[in-house]
Amino acid sequence: MELLIEKDSAAVAVRAADIITEFIPEQPTLGLATGSTPVETYRELIQRYESGEISFAGCRAFLLDEYVGLPHEHVQSYYQTIRRDFTRAIDIADEDVHSPNGAADDLARAAADYEAAIEEAGGVDVQILGIGTNGHIGFNEPGSSLSSLTRKKALHPQTVQDNARFFAEGEEVPRQAITQGLGTIMRARRILLLATGAKKAPAVAALAEGPVSAFCPASVLQWHRYATIIVDEAAAGELKNIEYYRFAAANR
Ligand code: F6R
Repeated sequence: MELLIEKDSAAVAVRAADIITEFIPEQPTLGLATGSTPVETYRELIQRYESGEISFAGCRAFLLDEYVGLPHEHVQSYYQTIRRDFTRAIDIADEDVHSPNGAADDLARAAADYEAAIEEAGGVDVQILGIGTNGHIGFNEPGSSLSSLTRKKALHPQTVQDNARFFAEGEEVPRQAITQGLGTIMRARRILLLATGAKKAPAVAALAEGPVSAFCPASVLQWHRYATIIVDEAAAGELKNIEYYRFAAANR
């Protein structure tokens, strides 16, 4: 696992965009996270597209997750969010941006279909991840099986609370999602996990330096062959081995 510490969230976004840009000539299948953390990276990639530096033609994208009960049209569905934050501003065909169907009658079937669609596409080349304050990735909450596949999960009350900021006052915040499993995420060839801000510092420390444990789902990335964790100084605040990470980054 590689840990890169950047000055602030803007520098995290540039670093992440640099790595993604290296993959672009291969027309990669991208794994996209929603939430607030990757938004700056998406903006950086949009700028590079607009300046003619990169093109996403031929790329495909798979989202990590989708809320249960929100139709595609809902403004807070991840289907809409990723289009608003990223894909409508670049040259990726809309039908090549996939997400689980959280409004399906048969959610188990929708989850299995999504898992199969990722596999049929040849898997994810570069997976972008955020991390929850409780260590979740996708919506694999603490206690999730480390080899889980795409399925319906109940969100943790903390996650529901963290996500409430995106919903109008009085509006019900979803309590379930269809999420890629930890086993699904682990199949991605390259993983980039981004974390910014002091609130994420305990989760980052548990992910990188704690035991591999379902209690911190992101810690499964310690088993991944090519995972890069890019954090700002605030999110790096609780790392014990920080001197080594800085040394290793300077001596890559
Ligand atoms: C979103 C997702 C979540 C978020 C995590 C962090 O698709 O899968 O795991 O990445 O909840 O969210 P932010 O970035 O809003 O702090």
